[in-house]
Amino acid sequence: MAECPLGMNGTSSCPVNGQEGEETLNYHSYLKLDKLLNSQVMQSGIKSQAVHDEHLFIITHQAYELWFKQVLHEIDSVREMFMLPMLDESKTLLILNRLQRVTLILKLLVDQIDILETMTPLDFLEFRLQLSTSSGFQSLQFRLLENKLGVLESSRVKYNQQHYAKVFNREDQLKQVKDSVEQDSLFQLVERWLERTPGLNFKSFNFWELYKRSVDRWLQDIILSPAEETNDPKIKEEMMAEYKKQKDSFDSVLDEDKYKSSMARGDRRLSHAAFKGAILISLYHDQPRFNQPSKLLSLLMDIDSLLTKWRYNHVMMVQRMIGSKVGTGGSSGYQYLRSTVSDRYKVFLDLFNTSTFLIPRAYIPPLTRSLKRQLSILCHDHIPGESSEEDNDDDEKVEGDTANGNGAIGAKVKFEI
Ligand code: HEM
Repeated sequence: MAECPLGMNGTSSCPVNGQEGEETLNYHSYLKLDKLLNSQVMQSGIKSQAVHDEHLFIITHQAYELWFKQVLHEIDSVREMFMLPMLDESKTLLILNRLQRVTLILKLLVDQIDILETMTPLDFLEFRLQLSTSSGFQSLQFRLLENKLGVLESSRVKYNQQHYAKVFNREDQLKQVKDSVEQDSLFQLVERWLERTPGLNFKSFNFWELYKRSVDRWLQDIILSPAEETNDPKIKEEMMAEYKKQKDSFDSVLDEDKYKSSMARGDRRLSHAAFKGAILISLYHDQPRFNQPSKLLSLLMDIDSLLTKWRYNHVMMVQRMIGSKVGTGGSSGYQYLRSTVSDRYKVFLDLFNTSTFLIPRAYIPPLTRSLKRQLSILCHDHIPGESSEEDNDDDEKVEGDTANGNGAIGAKVKFEI
């Protein structure tokens, strides 16, 4: 037993070296390197000479799985912080930091494909048969990640007309998939948080009404007025058509009924209140109170973008490696994977689409003095019935807080294969 660096020899166990008789913790034992570095069993080497590149193939997949594990660890901790009825304001920086970490890992995962691509299709063929039916399609952690972020069951591309979870036949794996579907996804938690955006519910600052008026004024200035002034009937007609297009587009979100119809069709996913919260944050992101929420929304879009980039890089590699051969997992291979590089797998697609409804700074409704003050101090989760000490001039909380949203969210998802 090595000398205890804290001087606790003999009488009690050393917190660094452990109990008398135990092996001292070192780099090797702490990282369980014996297990880790002996886990690369090349199938090609079992019956004949091992194929050199199979080593890279295994290491790459294992590295992915380790990073998936870390990403899940981060996403779970962020979900946990969001699960409280009111987000603890002191945790926002931590959430941002962890989501930023997730994006950096995902960037690494996107780039890691380049290394595997140094393997030629011919080299891959040397051991591909030995993989039997094993396929990345069976990656449990990848499915957990999709579900915990909030990929919808209905958005998934069916693989051989089968439920993706059919490949998991172990009870513990199925339980994990079931939990990941039924527990609140990051999407659902962020949606609820957006519905509580301060500024959405003040009597003297009716954001949505003011925003509607600003949109009208903007469209009037940039299209309607110039159209009225022109003498060219063809140009006038084109401008009026453009006006109608723009007006219809804005109306699809300004009008709550129309918005709900889009939700029912699956064109929008965020509840109307949450969507309004996202627009409010985007328009007023310069306000100190919205700096961090706006960064958070941006990171969520980064996660979607990076996963889409990964899907794209992966399918490009697959095409290069196996052309249009079927996958080892039994799918059509390239064709199947190509169909997953699509907006249907973007969880936070509505956030990307808020940009359609931004208006120039000059048209953004100015905040009332009191609201401006509140947005420099108040937490995101405005507490119903509670106002800041100085909040005694022109802003009041509207009765009937939307903290519980419009009922569109929080509905439990049932997992059925
Ligand atoms: C030579 C390299 C690779 C080839 C040829 C390949 C091929 C394929 C194919 C054909 C599929 C469709 C399912 C099937 O029929 O098997 C698939 C799915 C998948 N692969 Fe790969 N893959 C490669 C590398 C990787 C790597 C390094 C990862 C990292 C974990 C990975 C993760 C996945 C995942 C997660 C899926 C499921 C995607 C989905 O269903 O949306 N693959 N792969």
